[in-house]
Amino acid sequence: MKRLLAFCLLAISYRLSATIKLPQNPDPQPLTWWQSDIIYQIYPRSHQDSNGDGVGDLKGIESRLDHFVELGIGSVWISPIYQSPMKDFGYDISNFTDIEPTFGTLDDFKSLSNAMKERGLKLIMDFVPNHSSDLHPWFNKSVHSEGKYKDFYVWLDPKGYDEEGNPIPPANWINHFSGSAFEWNDIRQQFYLHQFVKEQPDLNYENPEVMKEMLAAMKFWLDAGVDGFRMDAVQTLFEDQRYLDEPVNPDRPPTSIPTDHNYWKHIYTINQPRVIDALAEFRKLIDIYSLADGIERCMMTEAYLDTLEELLKYYGTKENPAAHFPFNFDLIRYANGNSSAAAFADIVDEWYLKKPEGSTVNWLVGNHDNFRVGTRYGEDAIDKMNMLIMLLPGSVVTYYGEEIGMVDNVISWEDTVDPAGCNAGPDRYVLFSRDPERCPMQWSDEDNAGFSTANKTWLPVHPNHKEVNVEVQKNATGESHLKVYKQLSDLRKTEAWKYGSLEAKSTNDEAIYGYSRIFNNQGFLFLGSFSNQAVTVNATQEFEGIPATATVYTTSVGFEPETAIGSSISTSSIVIGAKHKNPIVKILPATRFRRQTTYNCRRNECTNGVCNPQTYEGPDPPDWCKNSGGGEFDSGRFFGGGGGTFGGDSSGRFGQGSFRDDDLFGWK
Ligand code: GLC
Repeated sequence: MKRLLAFCLLAISYRLSATIKLPQNPDPQPLTWWQSDIIYQIYPRSHQDSNGDGVGDLKGIESRLDHFVELGIGSVWISPIYQSPMKDFGYDISNFTDIEPTFGTLDDFKSLSNAMKERGLKLIMDFVPNHSSDLHPWFNKSVHSEGKYKDFYVWLDPKGYDEEGNPIPPANWINHFSGSAFEWNDIRQQFYLHQFVKEQPDLNYENPEVMKEMLAAMKFWLDAGVDGFRMDAVQTLFEDQRYLDEPVNPDRPPTSIPTDHNYWKHIYTINQPRVIDALAEFRKLIDIYSLADGIERCMMTEAYLDTLEELLKYYGTKENPAAHFPFNFDLIRYANGNSSAAAFADIVDEWYLKKPEGSTVNWLVGNHDNFRVGTRYGEDAIDKMNMLIMLLPGSVVTYYGEEIGMVDNVISWEDTVDPAGCNAGPDRYVLFSRDPERCPMQWSDEDNAGFSTANKTWLPVHPNHKEVNVEVQKNATGESHLKVYKQLSDLRKTEAWKYGSLEAKSTNDEAIYGYSRIFNNQGFLFLGSFSNQAVTVNATQEFEGIPATATVYTTSVGFEPETAIGSSISTSSIVIGAKHKNPIVKILPATRFRRQTTYNCRRNECTNGVCNPQTYEGPDPPDWCKNSGGGEFDSGRFFGGGGGTFGGDSSGRFGQGSFRDDDLFGWK
């Protein structure tokens, strides 16, 4: 029997939590590429610069394809490479069917696509259906009310005029990057809607012509051979047609001010019912291509919503499918380096328990809109988080640099270019800027980390690139994040990963969160440390089907030497070291990751047999609630669609009170 163990360092813990058990797949069928392959996100400006202008490009990406092959990565999602004035670094598109010259040409794209095919790599395009650039010819035509373009965007008359005769916006809606979501246009004498920067006017999906054009653009790329799309910001496709003011978000972060998007609860601008219909239309087109040649294309959707129930609707139904999977941002929004093992158990359990039958769960810990995992969880947690997400059943997405443990760079106000940061101003830009997580890929210890030969790169290269880079980690005689990553990638190719059972739980009074994956008696066990003390785990007692001895398959960088990779250990007493080698936990202060303390407490105060049940929910708790530990929930970070859902009970956990009830599932 092959016995494998994947270990790692740790975190903190409080209480007992439930176990989730899923059986091994009784009818193993080959998984589709998007289910089994690692999907790797490239932020093209930061991947590899081939022409020395300090910005990454397509030729650069092509020159680095072997990196993916060596790591066993099967598919690559490239953030937008369409023509763009770069007001939102590619997410403002002025031509949906051509390549931005900064990145290259259509020929460069074809060359890249062919080179990827030769290596068996799948290519996923980022697609931005909600808006275009204001420099798109459609917008100019719409401004001038030309023909079918007249209603291509969302145009509205002013609500009235102020005393000075200035037009008043139709509603109080705020865009994601601060300030009103309406911009006055002098020519048309109307406001237009922009849910992102004012140079990103919202397309009007009330107009069927818009959908036709977007499908035509998708068709263009499908014909060019792409394997799928990552659909951007789909929660904003529709707005409530009454244009009513949105209410204040009761869960807003304490730092929030009225011009911030997260100050308001977006009941009229986000996740309107027809979003799913639009997704189903996009999906139909994709399925036509898949059915035609039997090669499955995939559609993953981006939406930050308040509840998992709402998000799960984005899968659509069997009869009317929508996304192959909507991104799971829970490990970005609802956990960080201070989270307990129970928080992880809740997040993991909830997805498997609630997902629609037959659908595929997905895991990720970072992207270009959120601080990097090493920054949010602490550098010591980098391998642990990669283990956690890569070995659970389901699709997985790696944000570039996660394989080597890149962390956020510190970006000065002067160097800040992200509109989310710039619009916030010099005093508050660090709260919103996404520049820190978008810095150039660290390939080597050369100047500019081997990313570019320019004197100045578009964002500064992280000074730690001398130690943290692909080359050093690849050639290390000892351990490295990259080597751990490669081992995890290899494990995803085993039957235990593909079809194995899942038993996931926190153990040792929540010092440990771990899970086993077993298929026909072969498998592996992941144990992640969530305590500042070393603990001994009796895995044979905690998990079913674990043999008496096992081989250490991989460990976090810096893990205890007595559990060196390849050594045989007794599974009834596995020693897991403290989560942080160094007692100083290098995670950022809470405000840096939009963490919000929302309390949700209950107590039943009884005096002389007379009981008085009390509840408190909100950000400013009375002392009895504050002291109960019933709080500390991350509000959702960047694109919280109204501030996130917390539903924590007084134990300080996530999830609904009843969700953690063992009896409910009868497995423990
Ligand atoms: C998505 C992208 C983000 C972009 C926004 C507007 O959320 O991930 O980077 O700014 O949409 O297109």
